[in-house]
Amino acid sequence: MAISNFAKKRVLVTGAASGIGLATARAFAAVGCRVALADVAEETVKKAGAEIAALGGDCITIACDLSAAAAVERLTSEIDAAFGGLDILVNNAGIGFLGDFLHTPDDAWERIFAINLMAMVRITRAFLPGMLAHGGEAAVVNVASALGFTAGPCLSAYSATKHAVVGFSEALGMELVDTNVSVSIIAPGIIDTAIVKSPGAVADNITDAQLAQIQIYYREKGCAPDLVAQAILQATRHGRRIVPIGPKARAMAWLPRLSRRLMRRASISGGRTIGYVN
Ligand SMILES: NC(=O)c1ccc[n+]([C@@H]2O[C@H](COP(=O)([O-])OP(=O)(O)OC[C@H]3O[C@@H](n4cnc5c(N)ncnc54)[C@H](O)[C@@H]3O)[C@@H](O)[C@H]2O)c1
Repeated sequence: MAISNFAKKRVLVTGAASGIGLATARAFAAVGCRVALADVAEETVKKAGAEIAALGGDCITIACDLSAAAAVERLTSEIDAAFGGLDILVNNAGIGFLGDFLHTPDDAWERIFAINLMAMVRITRAFLPGMLAHGGEAAVVNVASALGFTAGPCLSAYSATKHAVVGFSEALGMELVDTNVSVSIIAPGIIDTAIVKSPGAVADNITDAQLAQIQIYYREKGCAPDLVAQAILQATRHGRRIVPIGPKARAMAWLPRLSRRLMRRASISGGRTIGYVN
């Protein structure tokens, strides 16, 4: 089911302190939604909430590390207390990890799966029963990546989480096909956000020079997170199932269906051009 009227709809955006999540929280507030912003970055999420409120937006902020099951429980009770449930859930919080497979240790795999996949799973499990029970227009939006449809060298852990997000979301969408809840997969391409600057998100053999080169590439070639925010809004409005958005996203989402060989070559040469694949 699509969302025909945004007024007073109750929205949760995870990872809302920065980048795509912040732009999405602003976009939903601007169309009259009540928005909960959740993020691990306490000061930044509070500041984001204050800015939205100063513009007349109706919002609350919740600081929590969503990689922990207990934090998801707290998030659920705080939102239930403030909003009495949700109409739109945007599972956006995510981290990257850059490094070749042999320099991607277990703790990096565990952390990236805890945030990019398990937080999404737990949060969806917490809010979906209420969304189904109230029976009104409702939407789950899962932010995957164009790398959920292909993969990138030196991005094995990240690519694996995003493939898992796509698989989870496709299966969930099939289960919910005859219900009031739509499921959308957002597959951004290159978006200029802080994700390429996250501390601890790179292997120990990635040099500062390589990192600087990637950051420059994202700044020059990436698009603004507002583009993704508007795509998320439209995805809920029209109940869109798969939304590739931003530079290279369409090609990365659809090319593997035509030729995996071609896509593979393009991914390897892209990594070499950007400078993180030797
Ligand atoms: N930027 C891109 O090019 C791009 C491309 C494809 C997909 N994505 C996806 O978009 C989503 C948003 O990323 P972004 O680019 O806006 O990055 P970002 O770093 O600007 O924002 C991510 C937000 O998630 C929060 N977060 C991280 N770990 C958390 C945790 N444990 N608990 C709660 N919050 C946590 C961060 O504090 C941050 O505010 C991610 O899922 C990312 O994988 C980004």
